[in-house]
Amino acid sequence: MKRLLSLAVLGLGLAAPAFADLALATSKNCMSCHAVDRKVLGPAFKDVAAKYKGNAGAVDMLAAKIIKGGSGVWGPLAMPANTQVSEADAKKLAAWVLLAR
Ligand code: HEC
Repeated sequence: MKRLLSLAVLGLGLAAPAFADLALATSKNCMSCHAVDRKVLGPAFKDVAAKYKGNAGAVDMLAAKIIKGGSGVWGPLAMPANTQVSEADAKKLAAWVLLAR
């Protein structure tokens, strides 16, 4: 029983961050322009993850772009600055985006 319980806790521990950061992304308005699996105004997060796979600097680079906005990587549209996002949250979001598939 104890063993089962700790397995359940482990399972939750692994699954929870994905949901937590989708909730964060939703609360920061990211999901009005993005989806995990398809292009909306901005690129699908799974495409972003594939593009920067194995790129060690990607979390910091994307976190900065999430806050400041920018253009020219995915098409003609620019991402406006998301100044409501703290640096810590931007890093969390960037790390979460990079795990999308
Ligand atoms: C008003 C629409 C809009 C909102 C809101 C928005 N984005 Fe974007 N996002 C875009 C567009 C458009 C691009 C493509 C920019 C480009 O081509 O360089 C983009 C690009 C990105 C990229 C890839 C950047 C790159 O250089 O490859 C990431 C990561 C990203 N957005 C994350 C987020 C997160 C996290 C949020 C919420 C804090 C967010 N976006 C909110 C429109 C938006």
